[in-house]
This record gives sequence, structure tokens and C-alpha cells, in this order.
Amino acid sequence: MMRKQLLLLFVLFFGLSHAQEPWQIPKQAEVMENPFSDRPGIVESGRKIYKNLCVSCHGAKGAGDTVAAAALNPKPTDFTTAIFQKQTEGSVYWKLSEGRGIMASYKNILSEEQRWSLVAYLRTLGKEPETIEKKKQDEKVISEPSIPSEGTKQNSKAKKYTNNGVDAFPFTQLVNAQTTHIIQPKGFGLTIQHRFGVTQFDEEFFRNFMGLDLSANMRFAFEIPVNEKIYLELGRTRYGKYYDFGGKYLIFQQTKDNKKPVSLVFYGNVALSTEKKIHYPKGTTFSDGRKFKYQLPHRVIYNSQFIVSRKFSDRFSFQIASVLIWRNLAPTNERNYIFAFPVSLRYKTGLVSAIDLEIAPDTYHKIIPISLAYEIASSGSHVFQITITNSNRILEQKVFTEPVQDYSKGKFILGFNLKRYF
Ligand code: HEC
Repeated sequence: MMRKQLLLLFVLFFGLSHAQEPWQIPKQAEVMENPFSDRPGIVESGRKIYKNLCVSCHGAKGAGDTVAAAALNPKPTDFTTAIFQKQTEGSVYWKLSEGRGIMASYKNILSEEQRWSLVAYLRTLGKEPETIEKKKQDEKVISEPSIPSEGTKQNSKAKKYTNNGVDAFPFTQLVNAQTTHIIQPKGFGLTIQHRFGVTQFDEEFFRNFMGLDLSANMRFAFEIPVNEKIYLELGRTRYGKYYDFGGKYLIFQQTKDNKKPVSLVFYGNVALSTEKKIHYPKGTTFSDGRKFKYQLPHRVIYNSQFIVSRKFSDRFSFQIASVLIWRNLAPTNERNYIFAFPVSLRYKTGLVSAIDLEIAPDTYHKIIPISLAYEIASSGSHVFQITITNSNRILEQKVFTEPVQDYSKGKFILGFNLKRYF
């Protein structure tokens, strides 16, 4: 069973490939021109980014002849061919912004200027002599004013592409907290969150291999888009054998022109424990004195929240949420509801790395739940984070209703998050 599951995950992470069909590029995107073409050093800065992010697949000279390419299907494009070079710069820009399959989407990773600098650099890779002549001719043809007819599919796609929305976070959850990101209808998401055992820097730290040997918690979830503003999710968590079902709705999004300075989303989630039974001492009663009996509604915990985010710069994004957790069953002397106000921030430390921090005061804990993560190799289609938290719970319903570790005593929990968007 376990082996089958692992195989499935492996296939999902690495095996999924798209058939090599022509790209569907919106007309308006096709005719875009590089607004930074006059900027000095633009090709050079494109070359630097290319060396960092693209060489591994497309090769040092752009010929797509890499070791990685041998294992990929479809193959990374050879940028030196006339076929590649003759397309408009708008098309190239659109393709590397949106991505497809193995080719990641770079629009949340790189700024507009960085993406246009890549386009400028890719333009220098053509080797076939007729390329430039041909390119000029073709550009003439394509840049004839092409007015897409009103209301066509192409037209609506193009509109979407040129809208001025700002996405503060490139993925749906930071560490445990939800973000204002909405999965777009072109695919779906897979999230794996893993927390090892509670550890601290003592003689056991290395003996228990930093907590990896200890009992671990894990959640995996699928995220399925409904439209541009709504997606649904279905998750399963190990502790408590919880199944959770949730959805996120984008009420409005931050815009580049700052007419809307922030994004606002609503998120709701219901989690049901499928643990066979809970253990309680004989003679336990409800707070009103009735004999306690564990029933189906007791297994359910709700999470609802509004989240406001703002992307302040290409590097720095910030959000705050107001969370209401409702549990149908709470210990005597505790309330059924808990409020939490998680503040989250993301700071990009490099092209593909970032630091994420969540500080989440709530009405339950004396010790504030805190989570910190370092993102490695983030792209528009995958994220890997190493996490340090003081709770080994993953669902917010559990993070905010169960004890956390006391970091003043040096206790913490290591873990990781893996996300993949298809
Ligand atoms: C993991 C490997 C990988 C990396 C890294 C990668 N690419 Fe790609 N790229 C691909 C593959 C595979 C395709 C073909 C995708 C298809 O046709 O469905 C592709 C296609 C493209 C295309 C479309 C070419 C065309 O006209 O059909 C462009 C443009 C592109 N990549 C640019 C880049 C740039 C710029 C970078 C770095 C920022 C980059 N790629 C990084 C694998 C990669």
C-alpha cells in the first residue's frame, strides 16, 4: 500500500508531462513589445538570470542539449533555431511568464523587467543567419493591427493577461497560514506538509536525528480551481486522522495602479476526525452534567477567516488575517471558539529563495504560535520549504486549539513543505 502511494506521489511530482501542442497565446500578448529595450545592460542582466535559472534545462548556449533534457518530455526548447527566433518577443515573454508543464511559470518569481531582460538575452542566441531577416519579416506580419473580435475566447484571455492584478504570494499557504493566492483554472495544486517530532539542542538532538526519528505529523492536500476567483481543497492529516475540505474566494485583488492597495480573500475549512475512538475516563460528563458520549458532530472543527495582503515590493509581501476557529467539542472550562490574528510575511532573499515568517497570536495560547521557513528553489510551479515551528499540528484548527512548545525552553519542531502546481 505504502509503496503504491509513494509511486503515485513520485509520478505526480516528476512524471506529469504535457503533450507538445502549440501554445495558445492571447493576441494582445503576442504583440507586446519590450518596454525596457532601451535600458543599458539589459541583455547582460538577462544573461545573468539565464545562467542561474535556465541553464540546467536549456543549456549554456540555449541549445537544449543538457543532461536534464535527456530525461524530460517534452524537451526544453532549443533557442538557437529559426523556429524559436522568428516568433515575436511578446510571445516569448508570455511563454516564460505563464509556463507549461515542466517549464515553470516565472511571473511570480521574476519581475517584469527581469522577464523582459531574459527575452532580450534569448534574442541573442539565434545562430541561423536567415533568422534576423526572417524575424523582421514575420514581426511585420504579426504586428499588423490584429483586432480580436469582441467577446471571443482569445479576447477574454488577452484581457486577463493584461489585467493589472498583483499576487502578493505565489502559493496558497505560507507555512501553516493560508495566503491570498488563488490557483488559476489551468491546473491544480498538490501540497505536502511534514512536521517531525519535538526536539531541542541537547544530547538527544543528533541521536534522534533532529527529530526525524520521532513520531511525525503530515498532511497532504489537493487544490482544485473552480474559476479565477475560487478554488477548493481536500486534505488529509495524520494526527487525528482528519479529512478536511475547504475553499478560498478572492473578493478583490491588489492592483498595480494602486487603485486597490490590498487583496482581500475569504477562506473556510471544515475538518472531520476519523480516529476510531477517543479515550476519556469513565464517568466523564458534559458541562451540564449529562453523561458524555462521543458522537459524530464532536469530530468536526471549523476554520473561517478573512485575509488582507499587500505586496510592497518585488521582494516583500505582508498579510494579516482574522481567524475564527469553532470546535464542536471543547474541554470543560474552555470555549468552543478561538480567535487568531496571524501576521505573515515573505521576504525574497534571492531569485529562487525566500524567508517566510508567521506570528499568530490567538485567544487560546499564552505562548504565541510561530513558524519560520526558508524557501529553496521556488518557482511558479514548485516550492520547497524547510520549516521551524513550535507546533507540530498543521491544520490551523489544531494549531490554534492545542498546546504549543515553549521556545523559551529551546523546544522546536523541524519539518518541510512541498508544493507543486500542475
Ligand atoms: C526544468 C527545466 C526547465 C527550466 C529550468 C527552464 N525551462 Fe524553459 N522550457 C522547458 C521545457 C521542457 C519547455 C518546453 C515546454 C513545452 O513546450 O510544453 C520549455 C519552454 C520554454 C519556452 C518556450 C519556447 C517555445 O517557443 O516553445 C521559453 C521561452 C522558455 N522555456 C524559457 C525559459 C527561461 C527564460 C528559463 C529560465 C528563467 C527557463 N525556460 C527555464 C524546461 C525548462
